[in-house]
Amino acid sequence: MLYAFELSGEHEVLPAAEVFACLKIEGLDFRPFIVVDQCLVVEITGKEEDIENILTGPITDRLAMTHHILKVIGISENTPDAILKLAEDFDSSGYIREGQSFVVRAKRIKHHVDFPGEFLEQKIGGCIYRKGFRANLKNADVEFRVILSEKAVFGTLLSSIDRSAYEARTPQNKPFFHPGVLMPRVARALVNLSGIKPGDLILDPFCGTAGILVEAGLVGARVIGIDAQEKLVKGARMNLEVFKLDYVLMEGDACRMPFKEATINAVVTDPPYGRSAAILAESLEELYSCALNEIQRILKPGGIAVVVSDKAASEYGEKAGLKVLNIYAQRVHRSLTRTITIFQKELKNETGNASEELEQK
Ligand SMILES: C[S@@+](CC[C@H](N)C(=O)[O-])C[C@H]1O[C@@H](n2cnc3c(N)ncnc32)[C@H](O)[C@@H]1O
Repeated sequence: MLYAFELSGEHEVLPAAEVFACLKIEGLDFRPFIVVDQCLVVEITGKEEDIENILTGPITDRLAMTHHILKVIGISENTPDAILKLAEDFDSSGYIREGQSFVVRAKRIKHHVDFPGEFLEQKIGGCIYRKGFRANLKNADVEFRVILSEKAVFGTLLSSIDRSAYEARTPQNKPFFHPGVLMPRVARALVNLSGIKPGDLILDPFCGTAGILVEAGLVGARVIGIDAQEKLVKGARMNLEVFKLDYVLMEGDACRMPFKEATINAVVTDPPYGRSAAILAESLEELYSCALNEIQRILKPGGIAVVVSDKAASEYGEKAGLKVLNIYAQRVHRSLTRTITIFQKELKNETGNASEELEQK
């Protein structure tokens, strides 16, 4: 069965990477089908009801950079004729039941089509009406949706991501604010890229105001934060308390962490960039080098570290023995482009040799 993820346009590749990470976390058997501008279609194998319970439950709750999830009816060229043929020909069973009402919504992505969405909504509505269903624009049982990108993706709406919840957690709305915080949607996407599951231990060794830890705690992880400044540790506590999360915080040094080797499932962190955030180290290079050594030491084999920096962190991680899985650039403003590096600690096989990696899809 095909499912479509209507992606936010806030980054070219992160939204799709976040979807892949969440599908993997939930153990779904999937393969990418097509990716067009702001829409990813995946094929998921398994019992439809089980798949849809997972998509509309934990995956909808976790995703930050997706707007909607659809059950796909068909994919066509993005011309009115091709789309209307899909709407005319599809078998409605499996998408809408007898007696249910419907609405049709068309979403134009950027400049990919030059006809108005409303025109298509009416025409598709006519096709569905002729199959014996009645429209209800205000309170429909089923929403048919067509995403008009480089292709047209037609389906029914399974769920919508509550993006306003991320706005509500904006740093300025939290009890303790300090500049230089990641926005909650970015922090959540990074937490998802780390692959952590509920109950796993996640660490942010440069936790600041706990922006990352709050998002990790909200997906059910047990969170640990370290920061060199006492006032930030106090502030992080205030922010975590609001959400009643399971956390441990300590004032300390990311270069000397009080944890045993191979005890942490994942690390997601945003170390200082050497601009405004304070550094507890001789230099930024020294800080990156020793912190990445520590991160490699405390991560469990196979564990992921997501490191945000304004300069390449990959060489420091590789020197520490971590493998680079992916590097993403994220433009924040004219003078700041963040680098997001995804590292993995190698898995060891029984003879102690490095074995094949769990590559991120
Ligand atoms: C860019 S800020 C992190 C912002 C954070 N993501 C947030 O949500 O607020 C970097 C943090 O690293 C802390 N820091 C600097 N040197 C450190 C060190 N050696 N060990 C631990 N924390 C350190 C700073 O106090 C600062 O709070």
